[in-house]
Amino acid sequence: MPDIGIIGGSGVYQMPSVELIREVPVDTPYGAPSDTFKILRISGIEAAFLARHGSGHTIPPHKVNYRANIRGFKELGVTRLLSMGAVGGINPLLEPGSIVVLDQIIDMAAGRLSTFYDKGEVYHVDFSEPFCPELRAVLIEAAQGINLPVLPRGTYVCTNGPRFETRAEIRAYSIMGADVVGMTAMPEAALAREAEICYATVATVTNAAAGISRDKLTTTEVIETVNKSSINLNALLLNAISLIRPHRGCPCKDALKDAKI
Ligand code: HPA
Repeated sequence: MPDIGIIGGSGVYQMPSVELIREVPVDTPYGAPSDTFKILRISGIEAAFLARHGSGHTIPPHKVNYRANIRGFKELGVTRLLSMGAVGGINPLLEPGSIVVLDQIIDMAAGRLSTFYDKGEVYHVDFSEPFCPELRAVLIEAAQGINLPVLPRGTYVCTNGPRFETRAEIRAYSIMGADVVGMTAMPEAALAREAEICYATVATVTNAAAGISRDKLTTTEVIETVNKSSINLNALLLNAISLIRPHRGCPCKDALKDAKI
């Protein structure tokens, strides 16, 4: 059973140069995950990989079955989940290609099924720190280990999409303190917390957000930048996986404790 999971975002539908052991279709009480889970062997460690948007990128952000995806990882035995995401840069210091290890989220998405507990049992999990502190530290250490510059913190605003934002929205999000904008970290991060799975995200800045650049935003630019960053991203994840220690000392594993009404 793999202990480690990886979610590939836009432009990342597989992990290059790693051994594929098998593909596992998983069904869940919440429906089907985005794709089959690919069980990989990375430096002798098993990891389960899932393409968030499906292997052919057919599922838009608001239609991703986040509950099925996280439940699928849980059923496979995953306790640590590293996710990848393409983002627009709001903070002017972030150029296309910059990599951010996120530490905060502002959730502006709407209409998504965002809890496992909406029938009978009511839980309010602590989400003050939406990302696992231990996994974040591992990612930062992994980046240092390969001399890859990363921004060690950043606030992600999650929009509903699938359209890109207006200039006024980005101005508002900037005033709210957002550094980057994307469409998928929520409810993924919150569901991972409810599933007591450690979760951290590596965000790749693929474009300047609306109005930060005067250019028209295009998905071509997003995918091209992810492709250009893929060698760095892959190296970062592979190194991070080798640095994850078996023991979990973070609060994620006890997220449901004292959270039930
Ligand atoms: N906005 C929202 N999501 C994104 C962007 C953006 O500019 N770039 C990549 N994902």
